[in-house]
Amino acid sequence: MAVGSVLVTGGTGYIGSFTALALLEAGYEVVIVDNLYNSSKEVINRIELICGKRPAFYEIDITDEAALNKVFTEHPDIDNVIHFAALKAVGESGEIPLEYYRVNVGGSISLLRSMTKHNVTNIVFSSSATVYGDATRFPNMIPIPEHCPIGPTNTYGRTKSTVESVITDCIEAQRNNAKKTGESGEQWNAALLRYFNPAGAHPSGVLGEDPLGVPYNLLPLLAQVAIGKREKLLVFGDDYASKDGTAIRDYIHVLDLAKGHLVALNYLRDHHPGVKAWNLGTGKGSTVFDMIKAFSKVVGRDLPYQVVERRQGDVLDLTANPSLANQELKWKAELTLEDACADLWRWTENNPEGYNQDPPKEFVDA
Ligand code: NAD
Ligand code: WQD
Repeated sequence: MAVGSVLVTGGTGYIGSFTALALLEAGYEVVIVDNLYNSSKEVINRIELICGKRPAFYEIDITDEAALNKVFTEHPDIDNVIHFAALKAVGESGEIPLEYYRVNVGGSISLLRSMTKHNVTNIVFSSSATVYGDATRFPNMIPIPEHCPIGPTNTYGRTKSTVESVITDCIEAQRNNAKKTGESGEQWNAALLRYFNPAGAHPSGVLGEDPLGVPYNLLPLLAQVAIGKREKLLVFGDDYASKDGTAIRDYIHVLDLAKGHLVALNYLRDHHPGVKAWNLGTGKGSTVFDMIKAFSKVVGRDLPYQVVERRQGDVLDLTANPSLANQELKWKAELTLEDACADLWRWTENNPEGYNQDPPKEFVDA
């Protein structure tokens, strides 16, 4: 028998697909909703190839409350939600802010309304380290703990911090309303997971990141340079106050990140903490040059790059203090940067066209 049933919104996306896989491997039933805006249905086949179980899939928009209601009605066993579906391009968010608020905030409100209607009371939300903005503006806040004041510096980040507030208010209200009728309300819980920089792919080479359109994150861009789709990497600034002048980030393997969702979900079910925020990061900062070096090593040759101006809105250092998640969730990132680079390269070599191709033959024949 399944240990529970989870609705995963945005479950065909990068982090969602790895989390759906981790849930299935842990014995959960998984129902994915995604409108395929930035992902492919082929992900469902790849998940099944790896674990032998197929998640249910609905191609629907997260802002469509009626469609969400239908999913909950058809799957009355769903007792938890992990909410990934969102738009996530920082630059674009400043150009079309209303679309970002409509999907990210409006979609979360539709989801919470539908959950309330169907009495589904646990939600794990994909927040982001970007809610902290520039933590170097405070003394002693690098590595960044959860009590660092939030202060996002872009529209995307503000949609994430707004959803954190919406969820917090919603859960608190549900608990208070329950108390008025003599109940504890403790079944209402939320985890706000603030992830740092996700990286890597599945070691099988079958599941990975395949954003539609032009990628803007460092590692997918480096992978495109390595596979010959891009001439060189542009390094955004080498005049930061770091060991080599390039900016520092906390790159966390997507398999560790996926596990973080599983343990957070189990924590909500076991401990009923109300609303809690946890950082999911490694606690180890790496510069852009560290990343170029690490990825060049697994590829086996130097990758071309050119230093250009800083990118607007970038900050010097986003490194997590993950102690709270280490202690409370008993979760720790275990994989290394080298693992992430090796897995990303295997995924890229095996799937030069991403999910627009059949899975790697060796895997299917194995
Ligand atoms: P992704 O784009 O791969 O996944 C998001 C999924 O949501 C996609 O499959 C997309 O098709 C779907 N989606 C978008 N709009 C939708 C809509 N209106 N209705 C239904 N589905 C919709 O991104 P990801 O990197 O896997 O990110 C997942 C979540 O994690 C997002 O909420 C993102 O903001 C957050 N996050 C990502 C990062 C990162 O660097 N990748 C870091 C921190 C937080
Ligand atoms: C990493 C480092 C760049 C591209 C973003 C979002 C954040 C979160 C993760 C969702 C930076 C440098 C990059 C390039 C470069 N997403 N870089 N050349 O900006 O840390 O975080 O993704 O929540 O919210 O802001 O990630 O991968 O874009 O950049 O030099 O072509 O690589 O300057 O220092 P970032 P990134």
